[in-house]
This record gives sequence, structure tokens and C-alpha cells, in this order.
Amino acid sequence: MLPVNERPYQPADLPAVMEAYTASIRTLAAPYYSPEQLAAWAPVPPDPARWQERLARLHTLVAEADGILAGFASYTLDGYLDFLFTHPDFARRGVASRLYHRVESALRAAGARRVTAHVSLAARPFFDRQGFQVEREECVECRGAYLRRFAMLKQLTEDQAA
Ligand SMILES: CC(C)(COP(=O)(O)OP(=O)(O)OC[C@H]1O[C@@H](n2cnc3c(N)ncnc32)[C@H](O)[C@@H]1OP(=O)(O)O)[C@@H](O)C(=O)NCCC(=O)NCCS
Repeated sequence: MLPVNERPYQPADLPAVMEAYTASIRTLAAPYYSPEQLAAWAPVPPDPARWQERLARLHTLVAEADGILAGFASYTLDGYLDFLFTHPDFARRGVASRLYHRVESALRAAGARRVTAHVSLAARPFFDRQGFQVEREECVECRGAYLRRFAMLKQLTEDQAA
């Protein structure tokens, strides 16, 4: 089994987070979107100031394997999973599952009643596997390109009105 360690994000992780995000989209999402869509979703080079600003509003966990950043997950305590990305070198080895379970535990501990996420075509099977349901399909504008995605939800409590 891949020895993976999850820990909170630190500012020094920023270059590796941007690299994992860009490589993940440009490789793992490539079968599902056009080159123009991928370039709009993961621009090269990424903008560190914009990333810093975005991550400052989120809780982020990183997964390390042999000291290499293999994936990361970012969320808000009210239950929104904003980022979940695995570096392509570590795909299908349980990295995202481990990160997701950590996030779900943190959200349960914080009293969140559900988890929501905007899920790419590439990530849909992963979220299905985690017990998410599709609320609706969307087509969103991103730097001039239009991307299909799913608004998905996983209920954490019995209360369906949550
Ligand atoms: C979606 C993503 C985060 C999954 O990361 P991962 O670390 O490879 O996922 P795991 O290894 O934990 O996968 C767990 C299970 O999810 C399902 N799954 C994950 N990726 C899948 C894929 N490409 N196709 C089918 N099922 C998949 C499988 O059931 C898998 O179990 P298995 O490998 O034993 O069959 C990763 O593919 C990714 O970063 N994709 C590109 C970017 C993206 O779309 N991110 C999400 C934004 S919403």
C-alpha cells in the first residue's frame, strides 16, 4: 500500500499544490474536456496570488507520499468541498479517498449536515463511490470556456431538510 500522510496545508506547499492541480486537470481530466476547456480551467502558469487568496478562505489538507505532494483537499466548515485533486503520478491509489474521509470526519465534528461539491465529469465516479447524489447538471463559464459539471450532495445526517 502507498504510504501516505495527511497533514494541514502550510504556505510552503503552495507551489506543489498548484502543480498537483494543474497536472491533475491536464492529465486526469483530459479524456473528458477539450484542450481549450482544460487550458481555461488550469491556466499555465498558475497565479500564486490568486491561489493564496482562495486558500486563505479554506481549510486545506495535503497528502504526502515519500515527501511528495500527492493530492490536496480544501473545504469550508459549513460543508462545501471546494478542491479535491490527486497528482496524476498517484492516481487510483486511494489518495483522494483518504483525504475525503478526513474532510468528512472534520465536517461531522463541526456539525455540518451535508457535504456539497461541484464535480467535474472526471471526478463523477469518485463522488458516486463516496455516496454523493447529483442535484443538477450545470454548464459554467470559466475564462471564456464552458465546462459541464455536476452539483452533488452527500447527506451526513438523517434530517433530509438539512
Ligand atoms: C477524482 C480524483 C480526485 C480521484 O483521485 P484518486 O486519488 O485517483 O481516487 P482514489 O484512488 O481514492 O479512488 C477511489 C475510487 O473512486 C473511483 N474512481 C476514482 N477515479 C476514477 C476514475 N477515473 N474512473 C472511475 N472510477 C474512479 C474508483 O471507484 C476508485 O476505487 P478503485 O481505484 O479501487 O477502483 C482524481 O481523479 C482527480 O484529481 N481528477 C482530476 C481533477 C478533478 O476532476 N478533480 C475533482 C474536481 S471536482
